[in-house]
Amino acid sequence: MSEINNTLVVVGVQWGDEGKGKMTDYLGQKADVVVRYQGGNNAGHTITFGGNKYALQSIPSGVFNPHIKNVMANGMVINPKAAIGELEGLKERGITDFQLFISDRAAVIMPYHIALDGAYEALKGGKQIGTTKKGIGPAYCDKYSRVGIRIGDLIDPEYFAERLRDALTQKNLELRALGLEEFDFDTLYKEFLAYGEILRPYICDTSILLNKEIEEGKKVLFEGAQGVMLCIENGTYPFVTSSSPTAASVPLGAGVAPRYINRALGICKAYTTRVGAGPFPTELEGELADYIRERGHEYGTVTGRPRRVGYLDAVGLRHACRISGINYLSIMLFDVLTGVETLKICTGYELDGKVIDYVPATLSALERCKPIYIEMDGWKEEIEDVRDFDALPATAKAYLRKIEELTNTEIAVVSVGPDRTQTIMIKDIF
Ligand code: GDP
Ligand code: IMO
Ligand code: MG
Repeated sequence: MSEINNTLVVVGVQWGDEGKGKMTDYLGQKADVVVRYQGGNNAGHTITFGGNKYALQSIPSGVFNPHIKNVMANGMVINPKAAIGELEGLKERGITDFQLFISDRAAVIMPYHIALDGAYEALKGGKQIGTTKKGIGPAYCDKYSRVGIRIGDLIDPEYFAERLRDALTQKNLELRALGLEEFDFDTLYKEFLAYGEILRPYICDTSILLNKEIEEGKKVLFEGAQGVMLCIENGTYPFVTSSSPTAASVPLGAGVAPRYINRALGICKAYTTRVGAGPFPTELEGELADYIRERGHEYGTVTGRPRRVGYLDAVGLRHACRISGINYLSIMLFDVLTGVETLKICTGYELDGKVIDYVPATLSALERCKPIYIEMDGWKEEIEDVRDFDALPATAKAYLRKIEELTNTEIAVVSVGPDRTQTIMIKDIF
């Protein structure tokens, strides 16, 4: 069998919101297939072109290109009502010509997952994760404890009745114990059968479809949600999401062989943001944070919360690049840094008097880490119209070269604005 190199995984290498939507849409113009393989409508992926801005939550970012097959694969957790709402929203804005395939094996987010997400957060006192309250964690828990409902169940009425009855026996017990309202079988059953009927035309075995496409040499782009630092396995646990956005997650989450996945593009902001609680060693407060937040419109796509802002953290980036096997980086929101006089990059942490160059596993250790910085000169010129690497200010180029050196990873793309066209392609990788 010849080596497959027509697939590429788009992976966020920080705490999400790095610009994965923009890059997936941009690279997607050359793709045949775009696949979401984990997460759900906790994601908010923004795409801007032709003067229009769209925010997608569970629908893949290839949906604006009619030639693309968009796949919501088995590793996702899907809220059918929200997905239908997204599709209606797209149709209202004239996006009617798209191809969509939803895995019959994907997990369903039920209303009790959303209720439980809120209740678990409330129980944490001052230690909330700051989840998006979309029911993500409880839906993945049910999948793993084998009481989950799957998308394919929604179009098999008898089997769905059995699954829902079993799930509600357990869930209502838990809801009652938490003092929450229980869910009525008949109401939920009717509601979700109706969603199943609406989604029926899209539901199929997406693993069969994907393997065929890959083996035929079609170009397949896997669109990660969240970022490696929010990964359930490798992130800043427990302040993480409940799935793994790394490239390693693709074979399982999309039902394709690991040998088909050999290239990953790391999507990385030129600085760092985080929304929700949890450790953030390079976090900034004050004037510079406000400057970056305003220039970068750093407010959550899903929840509207102001994002926490900080300097670039090369320790975190090395961790993410190693875990996800990042071949190339795409540096995003580079235009936002114009006007920052001195840029800092964290190159190591000081932990209890010792210098370390890795991300410690425990929260208590990570919270004690103090960033060690190098300083670099910034630039004053606006760069949003630059389309050629050589035309960037010398100090901007030096900042990019330093990122390559510190992460030992080549930069293939630099993004200088939200629009599709505001992109500097250094190396054609797809
Ligand atoms: P995602 O979750 O990784 O897809 O990222 P989000 O869409 O949540 O957040 C990224 C934000 O930055 C969005 O508002 C994008 O429109 C915007 N964006 C993406 N690339 C650039 C860029 O190069 N410059 C600027 N100024 N904004 C960008
Ligand atoms: P995209 O794909 C940024 C964060 C939440 C919270 C934690 C757990 O747009 O980059 P969850 O609802 O998943 O249980 O919340 O993860 N989070 C994100 N932060 N971007 C995202 O997605 C996120 N998805 C979840 O804020 O801290
Ligand atoms: Mg986002």
